[in-house]
Amino acid sequence: MIDTVGSFSLGHRSVKRLGYGAMQLAGPGVVGPPKDRAEAIAVLREAVAQGVNHIDTSDYYGPHVTNQILREALHPYPEDLVIVTKLGAKRGEDASWLPALTPGDLERGVHDNLRHLGLEVLEVVNLRLMGRVHGPAEGSLAEALQVLLALQRQGLIRHLGLSNVTATQVAEARAMTEIVCVQNHYNLVHRADDALIDELAKSGIAYTPFFPLGGFTPLQSEVLSQVAGELGVTAMQVALAWLLQRAPNILLIPGTASRAHLRENLAAAELTLPASVLARLNAIGAAA
Ligand SMILES: NC(=O)c1ccc[n+]([C@@H]2O[C@H](COP(=O)([O-])OP(=O)(O)OC[C@H]3O[C@@H](n4cnc5c(N)ncnc54)[C@H](OP(=O)(O)O)[C@@H]3O)[C@@H](O)[C@H]2O)c1
Repeated sequence: MIDTVGSFSLGHRSVKRLGYGAMQLAGPGVVGPPKDRAEAIAVLREAVAQGVNHIDTSDYYGPHVTNQILREALHPYPEDLVIVTKLGAKRGEDASWLPALTPGDLERGVHDNLRHLGLEVLEVVNLRLMGRVHGPAEGSLAEALQVLLALQRQGLIRHLGLSNVTATQVAEARAMTEIVCVQNHYNLVHRADDALIDELAKSGIAYTPFFPLGGFTPLQSEVLSQVAGELGVTAMQVALAWLLQRAPNILLIPGTASRAHLRENLAAAELTLPASVLARLNAIGAAA
């Protein structure tokens, strides 16, 4: 990967702004093993070989499957690799996403991640609130964060982040401890966090959008397709380049189970969108 978009701090480390999200490595619906385990391992190895040093995961992907594949593919991990995991959910029998935010759930989650990833300390753990499942809802996070702070004091967690949270919850957490990143739903079309991103940028806190390509429903927009055609690149590359230019604290973790898509996504780091194109793309979010 040509590193034209630079790096940003994540805790006491610095990571390239184009990383990788491992959720797509589990089976369909993020349950069970992948259709092609060898390809999943190849995707991870190629990501690292191309310079990716920030991978997002969770032990509830699969469950356990994604972390086990990560370990098989990359352990012992490269020195500079930052693996970010998250706690707060579990999977129901019917593959639903359920809250797992009791002290017992969180403690078990830390130990499951350590065991399945083969680590002694988790570099960054996001407290993932369940709100409206894929969107946040107000409510105090203090109790759950206190549990993670106790696990941090035990030396099991180095840095804390938040996921699926409101600006009020970010403020509540920052009054309690240092927060190094926020991971919320955000992309070209879904821009509810615009103000939060700018506020975090001022404080040097990373913002990692989930669903950067639209997630389970890939982004579709006539303007996006037109722009991609004019520039001779793909719509997904334009969507990623737009995020990279949106704010300096945005770290990308696009998910894919294919090496072809991985290469395409990493190449977005070489794409600079001119101001006139940015204006057309900005209008998509404004109209949504
Ligand atoms: N904190 C949270 O609550 C939360 C929620 C969701 C996700 N996440 C994290 O965020 C990461 C990214 O989110 P995501 O994976 O759900 O969504 P995403 O990155 O927006 O999109 C992934 C989807 O896009 C497809 N795709 C990827 N690259 C493509 C390309 N170049 N061309 C065409 N299709 C492409 C993938 O399919 P293929 O496999 O076929 O490429 C997959 O279906 C996840 O991996 C996970 O680590 C966090």
